[in-house]
Amino acid sequence: MKINLKKWWHGAVCYQIYPKSFNDTNDDGIGDLPGIIDKLDYLKELGVDIVWLSPIYASPLADQGYDISDYRSIDPRFGTMKDMETLLSEAHKRDMHILMDLVVNHCSDEHEWFKKACEDPEGRYGKYFYIEDLKDGKVPTNWRSYFGGSVWEPLPGHPNKVYLHVFHKKQPDLNWENPILREEIYDMVNWWLDKGLDGFRLDAIINIKKALPFRDYETDRNDNMAEIGKMLHEADGIGDFLSELRDRCFKPHNAFTVGEVFNEDPDEIPDFIGENGYFSSMYDFAETIFGQSQLGWYSNSDITPEDYKRLVFETQEKVSDIGFISNIIENHDEPRGVNRYIPGDNPSDTAKKMLATAYFFLRGLPWIYQGQEIGMENIHVTSIDEVDDISARDNYKVALEADLTPDEAIKLIEKYSRDNARTPFQWDGSKNAGFTKGTPWLRVNPNFERVNLAAEREDPLSVFNYYKQLTALRKDPKYIELFTYGEFKPTLKKEYNIMGYKRELPETGQAVLVVANFSDFEREIMLPEGFKNVILCNTKRDPAFKKDHDRDVMILEPFGAVVLEKQ
Ligand code: GLC
Ligand code: CA
Repeated sequence: MKINLKKWWHGAVCYQIYPKSFNDTNDDGIGDLPGIIDKLDYLKELGVDIVWLSPIYASPLADQGYDISDYRSIDPRFGTMKDMETLLSEAHKRDMHILMDLVVNHCSDEHEWFKKACEDPEGRYGKYFYIEDLKDGKVPTNWRSYFGGSVWEPLPGHPNKVYLHVFHKKQPDLNWENPILREEIYDMVNWWLDKGLDGFRLDAIINIKKALPFRDYETDRNDNMAEIGKMLHEADGIGDFLSELRDRCFKPHNAFTVGEVFNEDPDEIPDFIGENGYFSSMYDFAETIFGQSQLGWYSNSDITPEDYKRLVFETQEKVSDIGFISNIIENHDEPRGVNRYIPGDNPSDTAKKMLATAYFFLRGLPWIYQGQEIGMENIHVTSIDEVDDISARDNYKVALEADLTPDEAIKLIEKYSRDNARTPFQWDGSKNAGFTKGTPWLRVNPNFERVNLAAEREDPLSVFNYYKQLTALRKDPKYIELFTYGEFKPTLKKEYNIMGYKRELPETGQAVLVVANFSDFEREIMLPEGFKNVILCNTKRDPAFKKDHDRDVMILEPFGAVVLEKQ
């Protein structure tokens, strides 16, 4: 069958690797590039086409590599440039593509540029950053950094000057208004693409445009500070930077790019991911950010299946055929999706497969975050000393200040901490889940005896074997055009805790119906006409069908999910 994909990445299945926790080959407790190379065949078997690596550049790892001290070298803990080149060529041999994380809102305070800026704030490198004078001892604005505290930090060696960091103080923001800085960035990006890299995930990219001149915003906590979002909302003109980046770097290389973009306005979607958008794709974070409170984790609210379905449908409808949205249930900044989106504690394998089915066939690109394909779960926390993540540690403090007990604050960490996604990959049932023979940098989830790849390989009904079916179906030559370009039509909207949608190719009439039962009891579902042919199902037995008057009714098991083809 002839398959007509309009761009090389259309129809791809994408996978995110968090290198530090993926596979350690020299037993220093830290995952590495040789460890990734060793697992390329595994990823191929899973059906992955595009792999994004969280940062592996030289870094003090203050924010686990999102603080880069040299954009053109690999951190020795992760390997060498030679390893990186081997990874690229080995991936390409297997017809797979590699993306790096492009972290250019900020660098590390240990980057040469910043060191030189401290030596001479008025010189060339001072202008790479936002360096300001204190006025009557006061910092320029009242903005709160994402990781807590003021965004302003004294510039080392200059008691009357401060520099801006919207994330950690070891992540000084780069000044994109400066054309010389922009040239440095484009040069570096092109250097990587010329090496054969296939593209980038663009970290925190929405922060590169600041609202100037600096001013205070309305405070929102009793620390008398204002969250950054207020400033970003007012910052106009990011499109100029992003178009330049696209035209100078991505376009000439036919690179694939995916943006970390929050809170875009619906009318901006064409600018971001339309035909000539800044990026190839961007993540749908509507479900991720749902329930987040400005006050901190302690005042967040939970997402219900009905919220989930509404948000997914809204995104699908607003993106429509404009471009390709990237669909996720988790990433390295979030707790595990199975703990978040499946109601009740201790999600079963059936429920994990149900959630996977629900998002995998949406319009856009399906992404799998490492460990998701074996059903990895959140980790229990007994004390704050076990917690690595800087954002979790800040939220712990914020919760205690809001008068929560330490026990209550720990419960929040268990629920929201980024460590949940960062525990080592569970390869098998041996010591440290086969991740390392040394001491893992972050503790292994003790559930590895139950949840691990080796055991799941043996079980035809495992989450892992189901993910293989998902990728195979999405890329089956018979269905790839339907899943890649087919229209999205929400269905069964009024069925409480049932998520149902059709994918349809109007030209040929080919159509499938995806139905996922988010309830822990059996459901009878009245089907639209013609959908009776089961092409995928997450339970041992296919759902039963019966007639009610003239209509077809499907009986779906608790947490059952199914893909039906129109006859
Ligand atoms: C992004 C990354 C996150 C990091 C932050 C600062 O949100 O995903 O892990 O902490 O940017 O670079
Ligand atoms: Ca290692």
